[in-house]
Amino acid sequence: MLLQNKKCLIFGVANNKSIAYGIASAFKQHGAQLAFSYAGEAIQKRVEPISAELGGDFTFPCDVTSDEQIAAAVELVKERWGSVDVLVHSVAFAHKEDLAHRFIDTSRDGFATALNISSYSLTALCSAFEPLLNPGASVLTMTYYGAQKIITNYNVMGVAKAALEASVRYLSVDLGAKDVRINAISAGPIKTLASSGISDFKKIFSHIEEHAPLRRNVTTEDVGKAAVFLASDLASAVTGEIMFVDCGYNNLGI
Ligand SMILES: NC(=O)c1ccc[n+]([C@@H]2O[C@H](COP(=O)([O-])OP(=O)(O)OC[C@H]3O[C@@H](n4cnc5c(N)ncnc54)[C@H](O)[C@@H]3O)[C@@H](O)[C@H]2O)c1
Repeated sequence: MLLQNKKCLIFGVANNKSIAYGIASAFKQHGAQLAFSYAGEAIQKRVEPISAELGGDFTFPCDVTSDEQIAAAVELVKERWGSVDVLVHSVAFAHKEDLAHRFIDTSRDGFATALNISSYSLTALCSAFEPLLNPGASVLTMTYYGAQKIITNYNVMGVAKAALEASVRYLSVDLGAKDVRINAISAGPIKTLASSGISDFKKIFSHIEEHAPLRRNVTTEDVGKAAVFLASDLASAVTGEIMFVDCGYNNLGI
C-alpha cells in the first residue's frame, strides 16, 4: 500500500480505456483516496460511474481552458479535502485536421488550441493548486515520444508535448522549493479516445510489437504501476524527469 490515504486528484478520465483510468485503478489498489474532474456534461456521465466503481470521494467540473472553472475546482477541493498529495494531469486535445497531413499547414488557432489545452493547462493547474499541495506531494503528467522525435501525423501535438516536457523541468524548480515533485510519463501508444484522433495511429501498434525490446505494446495497467512509483515516496528524489513506459522502444536506433 504505497499510497495509503493519499489524496489524489485525477484530471483526464473519459472512459475505462483512458490512461487516467489505469492510473486511478492502480492508485486505488495502493490505498489512495480519489477525486475525478470532468470537462462538460457528456464526460460527467461517463466519469460518475467510474468514480463510483473506484470508490472516488467526489467528482467536479473542470474544463482546463477556463480559469474560473479551475478556481472553482480549487475551492471545492479545499472544502472537501483541505489539501492534496497527488495531482494527475492526463489531458490533451488538438483539432483532428491538425493530426493528419502536413504540419506546415497548422493554423494559428489549431496551434494555440493544442498548446493551451495540452501544455499550458499543466502550469495553470500547478499554479492554482500550489497552495493545497502538501510537502512531499507529487504531480504527474502524460507525454509521448512525438515530443522528441518525428512521428507521422502527431504534428502539433508533438510540439505541444515538447512544451509540456519543458514545462515539467521549469515547474520542478518552483514546486521543488515547496518539496513538491513533478514528472512526466512518456507512454507508448495505447488505443484511447484521444489517440483515435491521430490519423493512421493504428499502424504504429504492429510496428511496436515487432520492434520494441519487449515485443509488445504498453497497457494502461503498465502506466498505472509506473505512476504509483512516481506518486509514492519510493520516488522521493525524482523530479523534473520524463520517464519512458514504452517497452523500451525509445532506445532503438536502426
Ligand atoms: N493514448 C496514447 O497513445 C498516449 C500515449 C502517450 C501519452 N498520451 C497522453 O495521455 C493523456 C491522456 O490521453 P488518453 O490517451 O488517455 O485519452 P483520453 O481521451 O481517454 O483522455 C484525454 C482526456 O483529456 C480530456 N480533455 C480534453 N480537453 C479538455 C479540456 N479542455 N479540459 C479538461 N479536460 C480535457 C478529455 O476529457 C479526456 O478525459 C493525454 O495527455 C495524451 O496525450 C496518450
